[in-house]
Parts: sequence; C-alpha cells; structure tokens
Amino acid sequence: MKLLQADKLILGLLAHPIKHSYSPFIHNMSAEILNIDMVYLPFDVLSSGLKDAMKGIRALGINGFNVSIPHKEQIIKYLDGLSEEASFIGAVNTVVNDHGTLTGFNTDYFGIVDSLNPYKDIFSGEEVAMFGAGGASRAVILALIRNYRPKRIHLINRTEQRAETLREHFRNLLGYDGISVHEYFPPNLKKILLNSSLIINTTPVGMHPLEEDSIIETADFISSSSVVFDMVYNPLETKLLRFASEAGAKTVGGLNMLVSQAAKSFELWTGAEMPKEIITKVLTEKVLENGTEKVTG
Ligand code: ATR
Repeated sequence: MKLLQADKLILGLLAHPIKHSYSPFIHNMSAEILNIDMVYLPFDVLSSGLKDAMKGIRALGINGFNVSIPHKEQIIKYLDGLSEEASFIGAVNTVVNDHGTLTGFNTDYFGIVDSLNPYKDIFSGEEVAMFGAGGASRAVILALIRNYRPKRIHLINRTEQRAETLREHFRNLLGYDGISVHEYFPPNLKKILLNSSLIINTTPVGMHPLEEDSIIETADFISSSSVVFDMVYNPLETKLLRFASEAGAKTVGGLNMLVSQAAKSFELWTGAEMPKEIITKVLTEKVLENGTEKVTG
C-alpha cells in the first residue's frame, strides 16, 4: 500500500506511557534522510481516551500511526479491517489510513521474521523454548509455525493459564499441535533449553533498570549450537545474551527487531525503504547514552 503523495504525511504513535519511545526519532530521522515530507508525533493516550483519539484521527485525516502498550488489542474494534497476520495474532501495532479506511497490521511479526531468518538453517524443524505468553509471544508463535515449522514449542510463562490459552488459540487457528506448556520454572528447564535450537525471551525480564535479572543463572543451560533471541533492547546485551555468548551460541538482540518492525511500518506508510543500517547505528549510540533512563519502546 503506497501512500507517498504530494501532501505532507502526518503520522504518530498512540501509547501510554510514551515519554521515552524511540519511534518518533526512528521515523523522523528516516524521513529526513530520504527527504520525505512527513512528521511523526508521540500522542500520550490513556485507555479511557482511545475512542476519542480515534475520532480525532479520522476527523483530522492522520495518514497512519503506531499503537503500543496498552492499546494493541483494544484498537481493533475501531478499525475497518485487519491484515491476515494481525487478525491471527489478535494485536495491531500499525494502522494505515487509506482515504478514510483504517487497516491494522502487525509489523512485530515481520520484525521477528527479519531477526530470525539469518539463522533459520540452525533451528528450522527443531525444538524451540520460549519465555512469555503475551502479545509479542503470539506474534513469535505465528512467525515460527508459518516460516520454520518447529518440531515442538516449549512455552514457559509465569501465568500458566495464559500459555494454555495460547496453545488452544494456535491449535484451533492453524491446527498446530506442537505447543507444550510448562510452569515457570520447570524442574527440567535445563534439559528443555539444552534440547532447543532456538531460545526466545519475550518477557521484560533483564530489562533496564533490572538488568541483573535473568531467566537463567548460568551459561551451561545453553548449547553452543543454539540461537538465543532476546526481545529486550536495553541493555543491548542482556544477561541472557551474555550467557549465550559464553556458551558459544549465536545471539540476536532486541534492537534489530525494534528497527525491523519500524521499517515495515515506514514502508506501509511511505512506500519507501527505511535506511536501517544508519538508524541502527545511531540508535545503538542512543541506547548506550540513555542507559540510565527507563526506556519503554
Ligand atoms: P508483550 O505485548 O510485550 O508481550 P504483554 O502482553 O504484557 O506484553 O506480555 C508480557 C509477558 O511477559 C507475559 O507473558 C508476562 O507474564 P504473565 O502472563 O505471567 O503476566 C511476562 N512477564 C512480565 N513481567 C514478568 C516478570 N517480572 N517475570 C516473568 N514474566 C514476566
């Protein structure tokens, strides 16, 4: 969907809290580099204000926007349609306003595929272990089942019921029967992780300012032939990723996904390709600089 046009593109982010979001920086800098006439603004919107915000967006003809915590699911009822992946995941992080028709997308899905693809030969068809059963986890499971057909997905979550619901969701939706739900933490955690060619953390465990927290406490829980993907991007190298490196495993940090999901949103709005390399470089410096602040997305 190409929206690039003569008029200025007005875009934004609806979220709460919003203060430390990197999205305005990522999109405004990309537009400046590519000489695209657009502006991306942060809108701090509470759940109680979402309905009015949506009326405002329609009335003002805002061309598109991102949606973050806590609106990713609630936004759906105000939209005219959903992309296939957003509908499967049940959450939207990007909306395109095409002459008054609002369509929701889930570009987290594409950010996940983009982050994992370089390592697909290592884990395709193998066992995967995953921590967390929230919105991000749903996007990961869809990405895994569709693109890499894992033999088994070990789902480990603090609230076991939430993981059970996810297992049922994907069984009913895609006929995938390979999700095993485990308590947080299962007695056989070490065995599960050592048998998994891919380990993914979708929880905020290890995120600044609690970077000393980790879902594992030693490197011997990870096999040297595995890939470890942590969605946390502040710090750039979490304790989990440090253990993975020590074990000799491949590591994927959350910054890559942050930029890739933004790049897909940018493409949906402008039709242009985000200059990902420059953005990643500058963002890396920014995260390092802001290490002492709480960063929320
Ligand atoms: P997201 O959209 O980023 O996935 P979410 O839907 O709020 O956000 O999900 C966050 C996930 O991280 C959940 O699985 C949550 O566990 P619960 O289902 O038990 O709430 C998990 N999580 C959040 N904080 C956690 C913590 N301190 N320890 C372990 N798991 C945590």
